[in-house]
Amino acid sequence: MAMELDHDEGFVISWLRERDSARLEALWHMADSVRMAHVGDAVHLRGLIEISNVCVRQCAYCGLRAGNTRLARYRMGADEILACARKAVELGYGTVVLQGGEDYGLSTPWVENVIRRIKDETPLSVTLGLGERPEEDLVAWRRAGADRYFLRFETSDMDLYRRIHPSLPSRVSDRIEILRTLQHIGYETGSGIMIGIPGQTISSLARDVLLFRSLDLDMIGVGPFLPHPETPLGKDVLPRVDISCEQVPNTEVMVYIVLALARIMCPDANIPSTTALAVLNPGAGYELGLMRGANVIMPNITPFRYRSKYEIYPGKACACESGVGDVEIPRRIEALGRTVGKGPGRRIRHVQGTQPGRVFALGINGVEP
Ligand code: 5AD
Repeated sequence: MAMELDHDEGFVISWLRERDSARLEALWHMADSVRMAHVGDAVHLRGLIEISNVCVRQCAYCGLRAGNTRLARYRMGADEILACARKAVELGYGTVVLQGGEDYGLSTPWVENVIRRIKDETPLSVTLGLGERPEEDLVAWRRAGADRYFLRFETSDMDLYRRIHPSLPSRVSDRIEILRTLQHIGYETGSGIMIGIPGQTISSLARDVLLFRSLDLDMIGVGPFLPHPETPLGKDVLPRVDISCEQVPNTEVMVYIVLALARIMCPDANIPSTTALAVLNPGAGYELGLMRGANVIMPNITPFRYRSKYEIYPGKACACESGVGDVEIPRRIEALGRTVGKGPGRRIRHVQGTQPGRVFALGINGVEP
């Protein structure tokens, strides 16, 4: 077992250090083959609704941090959210993602009611990304019908994490523990990281990738760290640790390497080609992500008047408004020879059977679908 871990860690680290574009072709090919064999050609579309940009946290990287007083704050109304959900149905999406800052103004019963209405009035799956809410909230929302929850652990390096993500006075932030709670409650659970955080090393990034697998994540989202000028990390006033050449660059190619490794290590996970990639490469970021391991796109269906206010990093609003409109996304997927996924697009676990080469599809928690 220890041997095997060493082997995998070596494999991951050597690819994370690879810069030769000809040799990287082999990694892209491997990731694309694994993607094809395990999740097929379907690209699932999840309609992203940014329901609130209010946040109590002080994350050193994020433009929504409570300390950013230059940002005008908003909270969508329930009817507005329902209208977006109906639009997602019209567009043929199987899922909506309700994303927001950690906003306790989104009260537990209010969110519960929104989830129930979406589940009653539409056939959609509901994914939540509302931060580190207490377990009672997570349980209430799962009971109301929410299917999935997203919470990035950002980095597995605990010293770095504590520097960039201060705890609330009332509670130590332990996202890994919350991820296990989410799984226990019965959510399909997603997590992920930023790539190129100042102070992030190649060896800690390798541990992040191995953690994706040991957490048995259903969804994995990775994107480049993009400095936001109204944040401590954007202003670069955080103490820099001595990491010499071990620093992970926040480059496009680094994101593809991590995406490809995530696919190889977690063959049946749902992995989006993220907006942050489209910011780095507006012309082809989405496509290259899909060709190097990803099988999901999350088109932004937030009403336009709110989009510029959900600026977790600079340039995001532009990326959401240009080039990847509602009509264009299916066209771009088909141009790659892929198909637009139908239905909820849940993770289907593949367990190696006793017969050589035979693969059994199992539903959530190993129960036959
Ligand atoms: N650059 C890139 N990604 C960011 N996120 C937040 N701020 C930034 C930034 N400056 C990501 C975090 C968070 C997700 C919602 O957005 O990973 O979990």
